Amino acid sequence: MDTEAGKGEPDYKVRIGISGLFLFDKKTGVVSWNRILRLLPGEIFQERRESERTEKMKLTMFRKRLSEKVTIVTVVLLVGCGLADAAVKEESGVNRMIIYTDKGKETISRNIYGHFSEHLGRCIYGGFWVGEDSPIPNTRGIRNDVVEALRKIRIPVLRWPGGCFADEYHWKEGVGPRDKRPTMINTHWGMVTETNAFGTHEFLDLCEQLGCEAYVAGNVGSGTAEETQDWVEYMTFDGDSEMANLRRMNGRDKPWRVKYFGVGNENWGCGGNMSPSSYADLYNRFQTYVRSYSGNRIVKVACGPGSENYPWMRTVMERAHRNMGAISLHHYVRGSGNWTRKGSATKFDEAEWFALMKNTLTIYPLLENNIEIMNRFDPRGRIGLFVDEWGTWWDVEPGTNPDFLYQQNTLRDAVSAGIFLNAFNKHCRRVKMANIAQTINVLQAMILTKDEKMILTPTYHVFEMYKVHHDATLLPIELECSDYTFGNDSIPALNVSASKNDSGSIHMSLCNLDPGNTAEVHCALEGAEPKEISGRVLTAKAMTAHNTFENPQVVKPTIFNNFKLEGNILTTTLPTKSVVVLEIE
Ligand code: AHR
Repeated sequence: MDTEAGKGEPDYKVRIGISGLFLFDKKTGVVSWNRILRLLPGEIFQERRESERTEKMKLTMFRKRLSEKVTIVTVVLLVGCGLADAAVKEESGVNRMIIYTDKGKETISRNIYGHFSEHLGRCIYGGFWVGEDSPIPNTRGIRNDVVEALRKIRIPVLRWPGGCFADEYHWKEGVGPRDKRPTMINTHWGMVTETNAFGTHEFLDLCEQLGCEAYVAGNVGSGTAEETQDWVEYMTFDGDSEMANLRRMNGRDKPWRVKYFGVGNENWGCGGNMSPSSYADLYNRFQTYVRSYSGNRIVKVACGPGSENYPWMRTVMERAHRNMGAISLHHYVRGSGNWTRKGSATKFDEAEWFALMKNTLTIYPLLENNIEIMNRFDPRGRIGLFVDEWGTWWDVEPGTNPDFLYQQNTLRDAVSAGIFLNAFNKHCRRVKMANIAQTINVLQAMILTKDEKMILTPTYHVFEMYKVHHDATLLPIELECSDYTFGNDSIPALNVSASKNDSGSIHMSLCNLDPGNTAEVHCALEGAEPKEISGRVLTAKAMTAHNTFENPQVVKPTIFNNFKLEGNILTTTLPTKSVVVLEIE
C-alpha cells in the first residue's frame, strides 16, 4: 500500500513505542511520529490564528483536535496495516511536540534579552558604578567584574536612567566635572541623595564597555521638550552646535550612537499621573524634538500600559501611532501576595511556587491582547512592542531598605524567566525588545554585589543559556502537554520555544514548571535530519535554591544528556522544576 494514497505496498510499518505510535520508514529507516499525523484525511494542525484570545484556549483546542485525530489515525492505520488487534494506546499524560524546523519566518530580536538599570537602591551605585578611586577593579569607575559577566550573556541593550526616576531626572545636572554636579533627592526610591556622579557620559561609556545599544528614557513628567531636544542633540549630533560643543567641552568629541529614546515612563503613574489622551498629546509634542542627527536613526518609544491597562494602549495607539517606532509594556509578577505583602523571595512553599508559575503564564494573553490592539492601528506590524520592564517582585530581603527593592533570586525566578522569554520569542513578530527589571541588586537581578564580591543569580544563568536564541529564526511549535495540578487548579506543565540560527543549528528551551514530576517529551523535528544533540539544564534539589555570597554555585547550569534521537524523533525526560536548553545539529 502506498500509505498516503491508500494503495500499493506500504512504505511504512506501524510501531508502538513506549508512549505512542510511530511510523518506521522501510526505505530510510527513519522513525517518525508526526508522519502518522500527516496521513490523516483533512487538516490536523490547522494554523492557529494569532488573534485567538489566550494561550490556554489555544492549548485546549489543540489538545482536543490532537486527541481526536490521534485516535482516528491510530485506528485507520492499525486496520490498514493489519494491526487492528494491537491496543490503541492511551495518550494522556504524554508530552508531545512538533517543531516545524523549516517553517520559521520571524526573527527573534536579540533585544528581547535586554536589560534595565535605574537609579534605585544599589543598581547604579555599588552595582555598576564604584568610581575611579575605588579599590574594586574598575574601568573609568565602572566595575570590571560586572562588565565581564554581562558581556558573557551578550547583553544587547540597556535601558536607563529609569523607571520612575526618569521623569524627575534632569540630564544637565549629570554632565561636566563630577565635583561640580549638583545633587538631587531621589524622591521615588528612599529620598536618598543622588550625587549625579553617574550621568550621560558614564552611562554611554558603560554601553560601549558592554558592547550594547543604549536605550535612554527621557523626562516627560517634570521635564520640558527643550530639555529633551538638547539631550538628544548633546548625545548624537556630530556638527557645530551648542549642545555638541558642550559635549566636547566635557571630554567627548565624537557623538555616541543612541538607538532608542523613551518619551517618559509609566506616565499613567509615577511619570505624571496622566490620562491616556493627555499623555498621547504630550507624546506627540515631545517626540517632535527627538531628532535623528548625524546618521543616528533613533527609535522613539511611547509609554504604554502597565499589565492589563488596555484602554491606555488603545488611546495612545489611536492618537499617536503615526509618531512612534515602539510602545512599551510593563508587567511584574509575584505569587499569591499583594503589593503590600508580596511574599518572600526565598521562603515559600509549593502553593507560592504554583502561584508564580500561574501568574507568569499571564504574559501570553497579555501580549496577545495588547498585540491585537496594536494590530488595529498598525496592521503591518511596523511598531515594536517593547516590554521594557518585566520580572518578579518580592518583599525585600530582611534588614534591607524597603525602598531599595533588593531581593534574592531562586530557581523559581529562573523558571519564571524561562517562561517569559519563551513567550517573547513566540511573539517576536511584535515584541522587538524586552528589558528585565533590573540588572543588578534590584528586583529580579542578574547580578548581586556586596562590596567587592559579586554573584550570579539563577536568572542570569537562564539568560546565558537562552542567548542561543538571539537573532535566530523562531520555529513554529505544536505542543500537547500534561498539566501541573496543585490543589484544584491546573496549568500546562511545560513551556517551550525553539529557533534555528544562521548555521542551521536548532535550539529548544524547555521549562518544566512542575516541582514534583519529571516530564517525558516526544518531539518530532519535522523537516530536519538531526545528527547530534547536546544540552544543559538548570535545576536544583529545592524549589527555594539560590546562590549566596557564601555559597555562590548552588544553582548553575550543568550538562544534560537525558535524551535520545531516533530518526527525527527526539525523546527526553526533563527533571522536575527545570530549565533545559538543547542544541540539535
Ligand atoms: O522597576 C522598579 C519600578 O517599577 C520602576 O521605576 C517603575 O517604572 C516601575 O513601576
